[in-house]
Amino acid sequence: MKQENMLFTPLYIGTKTAVNRIAINAMECCDSDENGNPTETTYRRYERHFEGNSGVIVLEAITVSYESRSRLHQLSVMPRNSKALSKFVSEMKKINDKPLFIWQLTHSGELSHTDFSRRVCVKPLPGFGGDLLSEEEVEKIMDEFVLAAKIAHDCGADGIDFKLCHGYLGSQILRPYNDRKWKYGGSWKNRTRFAYETYERMVREVNDPDFLIGSKVSIWEGFPGGQGSAGPDTAIMDLTESLDLVKGLEQRGAKFIIVSAGSPSITLALSQPDRRIPDDAYLHHTFQKAVKDSLKKKTAVIGSAYSVFRNGKNNLLAVKPEESSLEYWGNKNIKDGVCDMIAIGRQSLADSLLPKKLEEGKSDEVNWCTACDNCIELLIRQRNVGCCTYDKPYSEALKKIRREEGALKGKHT
Ligand SMILES: Cc1cc2nc3c(=O)[nH]c(=O)nc-3n(C[C@H](O)[C@H](O)[C@H](O)COP(=O)(O)O)c2cc1C
Ligand code: SF4
Repeated sequence: MKQENMLFTPLYIGTKTAVNRIAINAMECCDSDENGNPTETTYRRYERHFEGNSGVIVLEAITVSYESRSRLHQLSVMPRNSKALSKFVSEMKKINDKPLFIWQLTHSGELSHTDFSRRVCVKPLPGFGGDLLSEEEVEKIMDEFVLAAKIAHDCGADGIDFKLCHGYLGSQILRPYNDRKWKYGGSWKNRTRFAYETYERMVREVNDPDFLIGSKVSIWEGFPGGQGSAGPDTAIMDLTESLDLVKGLEQRGAKFIIVSAGSPSITLALSQPDRRIPDDAYLHHTFQKAVKDSLKKKTAVIGSAYSVFRNGKNNLLAVKPEESSLEYWGNKNIKDGVCDMIAIGRQSLADSLLPKKLEEGKSDEVNWCTACDNCIELLIRQRNVGCCTYDKPYSEALKKIRREEGALKGKHT
């Protein structure tokens, strides 16, 4: 008898149902207009995601503050964006009303770009820094998150992912490195105050039990003082705080946790294992299982970092290709209680139609992400982002940038 493929079974998240167990992870692509509204390019990307029929689509990191942001053309969620965002949701739902549309709300903090915005920090980190945030400023940012959640709700989103990962402000406050003596630093109680109070307010003020509030969390950032490390000056892994965090979020109403790791500006290969160093993808399984075991069964655990497995043709050693694919690990991990759903990041740029194609048994028609990381190079350069392997305009754009930079280097040597 043929075994059931768990990837194509429904998943209950809060009061809603995801039609399958594949989510599109948040992927910022730097193509909004100058007010932070979606452009034609943004529409094109999401139209393809909605056609792909995944259970959940997470809208890329959308900033709650235009004053401090990491991307020049970053989507933003403020009252002035409401009309454009409402239209965006209704157009997407016309294409396919099944995927749950969750928006990732963010504040970039010390990752805000100084060329066009104000960089702020909770405690200067070597190589980053910025203006030191006061307690009043943090409280204003909490107001911005709550307002953004209400806007997302009123625009028709199914929920929000309050970003607590990858070194953005939500992570910066939680880190042991934030040992500054203030209301939001030092003790674990102080470092979780921002996340917990914002959650409590979002749940209370949105006041809709059907609205899904959850978070993407970096369980271990992998550098001294990062989230999940044993202290402010050590990188030694100690998951006590990270696991306490997800439990605290669940108690405050989180309906899902997207498990991630690393801080891409510092530990990129941990966040998104690449084809040269694919092995950390396994570490994510350990983190997903640890979160799953810490939570009550009703909170959905969504795992990241599956793209590098591809169709089994990858650089992972000591495994049979048929037991090393994204589909194999997704199915197995759900079956084994490691996670409830898998999220695809880079693979969603390479081929948004992956869920549909796999469900129809057309794995050989998928454009498999090569985990080359050329797309992140576009993001780092503040350009429109897309797949440089399968999407010609983006590969051409990258070639042009590299040519121009090569010419510039030539002039200076
Ligand atoms: C171009 C690019 C943009 C990304 N944007 C976001 C983002 O907006 N928010 C986020 O939490 N993670 C972001 N990520 C990380 C992915 O969501 C995901 O966690 C990571 O790529 C690992 O998953 P994968 O192996 O499926 O790619 C981005 C990654 C890339 C390459
Ligand atoms: S550019 Fe490379 S890493 Fe990025 S989506 Fe395309 S194949 Fe994947």
